Amino acid sequence: MLISCSLLVSIALASLQVVVSQEINVTDTIINNAVADSIDLTVLEFFPEVMAEIEGAYEAVSRRDGAQRARRQIPTPNNIVDAHAHVVPAWYKNLYPSIGGLPVPDWTMDDQLAFMSGQGIERAIFAFSTPGPNVFVGRKARTIALARLLNEQAAAYCRAFPDRFNFYAQVPLPYTQEALREAQYAMNHLGAVGIWVQSNIEGTYLGHPSFKSFFETINSWAGRQIVYIHPAVPVIKVGNRLIDANPTPYITGRIEFYFETARTLMDLTLTQTIHNFTNIHYVIPHVGGAYPSTMDRILKSFPDIYDSTFQIYSTRFWWDSAGPTYHHQVAGLLGYNIPKSQLLYGTDFPYAPLAPQAGSLLAVKNSPLFTAEEKTAIFRTNAENLFGDKINW
Ligand SMILES: *[C@@H]1O[C@H](CO)[C@@H](O)[C@H](O)[C@H]1NC(C)=O
Ligand SMILES: *[C@@H]1O[C@H](CO)[C@@H](O)[C@H](O)[C@H]1NC(C)=O
Repeated sequence: MLISCSLLVSIALASLQVVVSQEINVTDTIINNAVADSIDLTVLEFFPEVMAEIEGAYEAVSRRDGAQRARRQIPTPNNIVDAHAHVVPAWYKNLYPSIGGLPVPDWTMDDQLAFMSGQGIERAIFAFSTPGPNVFVGRKARTIALARLLNEQAAAYCRAFPDRFNFYAQVPLPYTQEALREAQYAMNHLGAVGIWVQSNIEGTYLGHPSFKSFFETINSWAGRQIVYIHPAVPVIKVGNRLIDANPTPYITGRIEFYFETARTLMDLTLTQTIHNFTNIHYVIPHVGGAYPSTMDRILKSFPDIYDSTFQIYSTRFWWDSAGPTYHHQVAGLLGYNIPKSQLLYGTDFPYAPLAPQAGSLLAVKNSPLFTAEEKTAIFRTNAENLFGDKINW
């Protein structure tokens, strides 16, 4: 597909740096940028499908005016920021059709925009959901190539609708050097606002010494760094095989994700990863999942870091609301005096389907625990404070 120069300017194609020519070949540019980082995208046989979706995203630019008109008709409040959203192009669903015992949802950009209009959401900060780039366990070249394609795909959606979307970078951990390089490419060239990681990487939790240099290096980069910690399916690594570690007959996607958040936050805390790397802020889904219920139990055994830990949870941790969390669950987090200014709104759409969304939104709006001003902050201003000028509000 060819993009005209004027369109180029209007969508600020940061990664497409060949602005000297009148027209740019998107496929060529993506391949060349990958080659420059020693990434071979052709190891993924579905590469042409991804390029078709990316080019389709650019074609959506021409529909942008219509979308903006539609936005003005959104009932108030219409400026909600959704800090926990996902995209699932068909090619990714084909690659990984079910997760945590549930089918991966069907999704299109039109569904996404319609959902946002219906809920009064102006902007969504999205990521691919778990397993991110870790679809090909133990296969380095494919994992690295997939992370790059996920980032190019996410960036294409954001460029098509710059006033509606931002994205978190995917990184090909456990390959640390490549993960750091990908994070830099995604943030510096594609405009990612933070880095998405999952609670365990092929069975290893995030406090493991093998990940220390990853956090250490991110921490050394200029400006606030934001790491999003998304739950994953619990697995146990036996030899080179990952075995589903849910010991119950209940669907992993329904409850194990909450325990995953608890496990990895415990690990990041007790290893003092979060203490030592003070430039990193963390976004935590589902107001902490099962973690708040366990915090005293875990941390009262480590009095030396008890106070400093809660200091971090109250300043550099940001807790999103995704799911039915404001009916009662949020009170558990507030019980630890986490300031309400650290709370973000999130939907988990489309993995959390449309049906329960209205109830979750109403639970925030009707919660007796927050003033109207605090709710406005949850819906938007807290996110503005977290992301600052990483987003062109
Ligand atoms: C863009 O580049 C690809 C790969 O080099 C090529 O197959 C395709 O024909 C090019 N598209 C256009 C419109 O020139
Ligand atoms: C953080 O620093 C403490 C010492 O202050 C040390 O014991 C711990 O191993 C460090 N953890 C990491 C992940 O750097």
